[in-house]
Amino acid sequence: MSKRKLKFGIIGSGSRGIMAFGKSIHGRKDSELVALCDPNQVRMEKSAEILGFKPNFYHSVTEMIKSEQLDAVVITSPDFYHEENAVEALNAGVNVLIDKPLATTVKGCKNIIAAAKKSGKVIMIGFNLRHHAVLKRLKQIISDGTIGRVFLIENREFYDGGRTYMSRWNRLYEQCGGLWIHKGSHDFDVFQWLLDFPKPLKVSSFAGVSVLNPNNIPFEVKPGTEVGPTCHTCIYGDICPDKYDIPDIQNSPWSDEAVAIDGYSKDLCIYTSDKTTHDNGIAIVEYENGVRASHLECFVTPINDRRYTINGTLGQIEASLTDRRITVFPRWSKETVTYEIPEEEGGHGGADPKLLGSFINVINGESQNQSTTEHGMLSTAVGQAAELARRENRVVMIEELFKD
Ligand SMILES: NC(=O)c1ccc[n+]([C@@H]2O[C@H](COP(=O)([O-])OP(=O)(O)OC[C@H]3O[C@@H](n4cnc5c(N)ncnc54)[C@H](O)[C@@H]3O)[C@@H](O)[C@H]2O)c1
Repeated sequence: MSKRKLKFGIIGSGSRGIMAFGKSIHGRKDSELVALCDPNQVRMEKSAEILGFKPNFYHSVTEMIKSEQLDAVVITSPDFYHEENAVEALNAGVNVLIDKPLATTVKGCKNIIAAAKKSGKVIMIGFNLRHHAVLKRLKQIISDGTIGRVFLIENREFYDGGRTYMSRWNRLYEQCGGLWIHKGSHDFDVFQWLLDFPKPLKVSSFAGVSVLNPNNIPFEVKPGTEVGPTCHTCIYGDICPDKYDIPDIQNSPWSDEAVAIDGYSKDLCIYTSDKTTHDNGIAIVEYENGVRASHLECFVTPINDRRYTINGTLGQIEASLTDRRITVFPRWSKETVTYEIPEEEGGHGGADPKLLGSFINVINGESQNQSTTEHGMLSTAVGQAAELARRENRVVMIEELFKD
């Protein structure tokens, strides 16, 4: 007998909601997308055009949950809203897939965890990197003991990401809790997952805006003129090498008509936008088992890659997500072993559709939830500590974030 399709609603019908989840939910045999919830009506309409069908539209989560018999929601609203969206869905008895980060503070995570316990529903975090074939193989190599006991781990994230991090809501600490949470929560989770979840003890970090400010506009600005405020209105659009060119913008969810509703532009000038986050930085974590980890993120670079170096008592591993290659260097021999990992289809190197599939399997009782709220809280805690460390110029003990 074929199973009933799970009915999904998406909260936040932006890029992730539609491109990473909406299309996949619709494309599966075991799920259907019945509703979108977004305060912006125009954005929902344009999103439905991208989807190629029209789910029901709602402006509030309350209204959507009251009107639909939902099995699950996917939360892809800006990070700052994750807590209230998740608590409301869980209180209504709906399963939740929440894109990372779980929340922008440990306190927010605790509130979600309390609601999840009360409801008994599934809540899974969108840690899609755990489904990335390169990282899965990397974890396997570490677990097999190939490089012995791991004591040092480094991740360098190079991302030509000015247009993603400096041109919209996540450029503001107030909306995303800072990039150590918004972006780094992925990477801090990967550390913990690769290391089998040791307790993080202390965190330090340095970060700032070194390049993406008005002093570094990469062309001459003529007296009496201004750049920006958005790429599509900028008079320097033809010569700016950083122009974020949203295809057919006036027919997209990011049109002037949509902006007129909520003031949210997706293509603010990365040099002149007001920002309270960083364009580069380094964070260091020490775990209770003595392992040290460093995470570098740089959004001013021609390279797009996450690169890992992992040292163990028996050797070293180098891995690249973009090259899809892992090389193991044994400590006392020159016999390196290289693994080439085949490409997979889907966003984030094939990881996004697998994340959705694993959520559906957990709802159907076919597998265990591997990305729990406790994991989500730990990565938010490390990100929050890194943000505090940077702002207050100090080493932050993780336990201080858990004191009531
Ligand atoms: N896992 C990943 O790899 C990954 C990658 C990018 C983004 N994300 C996460 O996905 C989420 C969405 O990011 P995005 O890039 O799609 O952003 P986006 O700006 O493209 O979309 C956000 C949408 O939320 C809507 N919105 C605003 N306030 C809302 C509210 N109160 N309730 C419901 N909807 C609201 C906006 O109108 C917009 O349509 C964020 O939490 C982000 O951290 C995850």
